[in-house]
Amino acid sequence: MKLLVTGGAGYIGAVVARRLRDEGHAILLIDDLSTGHRAAASGFELVVGDCGDRRLVGALMKEKRIEGVIHLAASALVSESVADPAKYYRNNLERSLALLGEMREAGVARLVLSSTAAVYGEPVALPIQEDHPTQPTNPYGETKLALERALRWMHAARGMDFVALRYFNAAGASADGALGEVHDPETHLVPNVLKAAAGGSPVPIYGTDYATPDGTAVRDYIHVEDIAEAHVLAVERLSRRGGALTVNLGNGAGFSVLQVIEAARRVTGRDLPTRPMPRRPGDPETLVASSALAGRELGWAPRTTDLDAIIETAWRFARTHPRGFED
Ligand code: UFG
Repeated sequence: MKLLVTGGAGYIGAVVARRLRDEGHAILLIDDLSTGHRAAASGFELVVGDCGDRRLVGALMKEKRIEGVIHLAASALVSESVADPAKYYRNNLERSLALLGEMREAGVARLVLSSTAAVYGEPVALPIQEDHPTQPTNPYGETKLALERALRWMHAARGMDFVALRYFNAAGASADGALGEVHDPETHLVPNVLKAAAGGSPVPIYGTDYATPDGTAVRDYIHVEDIAEAHVLAVERLSRRGGALTVNLGNGAGFSVLQVIEAARRVTGRDLPTRPMPRRPGDPETLVASSALAGRELGWAPRTTDLDAIIETAWRFARTHPRGFED
């Protein structure tokens, strides 16, 4: 299929694009490079621009005969969304609705949406299933949920088939070590821990007084290649039977911040200084997914579930890219 991948120069988008291309799809990337990297898109046709620019995207859909869209472009930081909600409404909702409008104009009716565990808010039951209440505690989750809902209505109006993938905590790097996580500033736990291991400043531990076994927050770390595999399966499903599906993507196991740090100590063999800090606003205590529905509906199962194995791939990337992508 001819696929447009928005956010295709980003951490997850670049790995997804490669995996889809390996599967035989023709890929066009669009990325405004606000957080993505040109180097991560190397070897692909990349349009540098805004996926919410109707004129640009409308022309691409028609000229490039796009048959489906993989929509990853978004702002995706919980704490930033709390501080600047308007940015999240603009980037995640307004621009996405413009994209959907152009898809409709061009008769493109297949979309895979990059959604998030943040749609659930503070869990009332664990592991989290897709029918868990959705009460986001931050604008990031709120805007992704609003977009999911818009898609459901558009599907009901017979306009749009979609698969929404609710990622839990994406982590790790591509198997060949070429693609990995590079943000500036970096706020995510795994790359921050590895920076500390490489001799950087102590890693902050945001919250040591949670009601978890060791007092630190628990997350479900899912390998980026496993996320990419789910996109391949979602595209297959859309081309086979269309429909509307929303599923979690997690590895089903929760790891605390301290467990991640311990794993990084084992993997790197380095000393890893830490610094206890107050909780970060908007952070839930524990997020662990049930991915049973993705198993049943997509035939998906995570392969790299061992925390040390996930961190090992991220460490390989960190060592070979000490200054990130140089662009
Ligand atoms: N953390 C630290 N120190 C750091 C970085 C993070 O202690 O230097 C803690 C956080 O407070 C949190 C956990 O490690 O408890 C994971 O934090 P990340 O920033 O790596 O990831 P988040 O859980 O905040 O965010 C992820 C995705 C979001 C998604 C969110 C759902 O990146 O897109 O999960 O809550 F919305």
